Amino acid sequence: MAKPRIRKVVCITALALCALPICAQTPTYNQPYRPQVHFSPAENWTNDPNGLVYFQGEYHLFFQYNPFGDQWGHMSWGHAVSTDLLHWQELPVAIPEKDGIMIFTGSVVVDHENTTGFCAPKNDCLVAIYTGHSQTPQGTLQTQNIAFSLDNGRTWTRYRANPVLDLHLAGFRDPSVSWDPTARHWIMAVSLPKEHKVRFYSSPNLKEWTQLSDFGPAGDTDGDWECPDLLSIPSTNGKSSIWALKVGLNPGAPQGGSGEQYFLGNFDGKSFTQSSEPGSHGWTNYGKDDYCAISFNGLPKGQKPVLLGWMSNWQYASKLPTSPWRGQMSVPRRLSFAKDSTGLTLRQEPIIVPLRGRSIAISGSSLDISDKQQDEHPIRTPVEIRLRFEHPAAEVFGVKLYSDKQHWTEIGFDTSKKEFYIDRTRSGGQIIPDFPIRTTAPMTTDRPYDLTLIVDRSSLEAYAQDGTIAMTNLIYPSSPNFTIQIFPKDARTLNGTGRLWELKSIWEK
Ligand code: FRU
Repeated sequence: MAKPRIRKVVCITALALCALPICAQTPTYNQPYRPQVHFSPAENWTNDPNGLVYFQGEYHLFFQYNPFGDQWGHMSWGHAVSTDLLHWQELPVAIPEKDGIMIFTGSVVVDHENTTGFCAPKNDCLVAIYTGHSQTPQGTLQTQNIAFSLDNGRTWTRYRANPVLDLHLAGFRDPSVSWDPTARHWIMAVSLPKEHKVRFYSSPNLKEWTQLSDFGPAGDTDGDWECPDLLSIPSTNGKSSIWALKVGLNPGAPQGGSGEQYFLGNFDGKSFTQSSEPGSHGWTNYGKDDYCAISFNGLPKGQKPVLLGWMSNWQYASKLPTSPWRGQMSVPRRLSFAKDSTGLTLRQEPIIVPLRGRSIAISGSSLDISDKQQDEHPIRTPVEIRLRFEHPAAEVFGVKLYSDKQHWTEIGFDTSKKEFYIDRTRSGGQIIPDFPIRTTAPMTTDRPYDLTLIVDRSSLEAYAQDGTIAMTNLIYPSSPNFTIQIFPKDARTLNGTGRLWELKSIWEK
């Protein structure tokens, strides 16, 4: 007798809940090209990650989101949470567009000491600092604003005295805020896109801001500067640290469209100075599809910084052949820096190991698996591949991923051109003229010829030469099944270094 009653209650509750738009349908994550190890919203448009923060056991990923469609517009902050940086649960929109003010890119900090006074009666709470973008009779206006959450990011209250920073400018955006434990105040890095400058401010309470200094123009200035991020990065051996300033550039990046450069140097609490050592200017990603990456605030002490970006490019983001969503994030990467005979360099190590499933060794230049086994149980994306080549027997060597006989993506080292490259001109699913491309990064003979590849349903993330090169490209092969060829035939991987892992989908329960 009890059973039907329980069922009725469950049914009524479900009906009541499903009146809310968020649970109208259980999202499915199995459409063609749907990323299996990368976050994408169940539906609609996303671009930059926003407000990455760790707080009370949860990682928060806010993201530029259009709740009403799969094109850019009505920008609001979408929200997802994770306990391991890999499995994400999407939550209702955190901060929606309101009164004609769109919610552009920004940060979230943990206000540990209630410097804002927002957190009472608690000592700490989450505070978001974002750009408000609106059209006024005088034209476009971008200002910096704050909002706070007393329930771990689920609901947000805007500060009644917003904006907290208004220079009456059309281009003034993407605040990146962090706590300076020495000076005991907040530091903001914010972009003046057309001037190619990052401006620094300090504040005791996130409400009143004092201008400190400007960095730039410097490095590449062919496009707007967006999405700055200032962070301290430990050396690989953990014995020292260096400051990094990362800045998005759009359009005009070396591979076309949007790209991201970094500067290594010193931040003295007021201004950032680029180091004069070789390697102090580089690109966080040499592919076409990694933009506006930012790092997590509030990570537990001792953890290396974690960077996560938007896997797309403004050149064709609105045309990607996916439905009912458009846009996806990279996997998170732990950052460190190294100094070797080539100079200073940023290093990135993707967080992926917890998703590993069945694995197959790669020895010499082939997979340890018979043709019959391959036929019966074809390799399907998502996969991770790691290998290291012996000192090269050929000028050009690498890996080809075939989705059928006519279509493949090539990843390789060209020692005569001193280039690492990904060629997606024959990957299939070409969208627009800017899509087929061979992206390149300078390589050096002083670092190992190693490769880590993360191949998902519609993307390829490559890390080479000890993580000093990261290259991310979207690809749209006709099928998730693929075969691997290591080339040339006599290329050899170092004994015991080659392995392929099938990866478990982050959407499987
Ligand atoms: C970069 C960007 C940011 C802006 C946001 C708007 O991709 O243009 O500068 O805040 O996107 O969606």
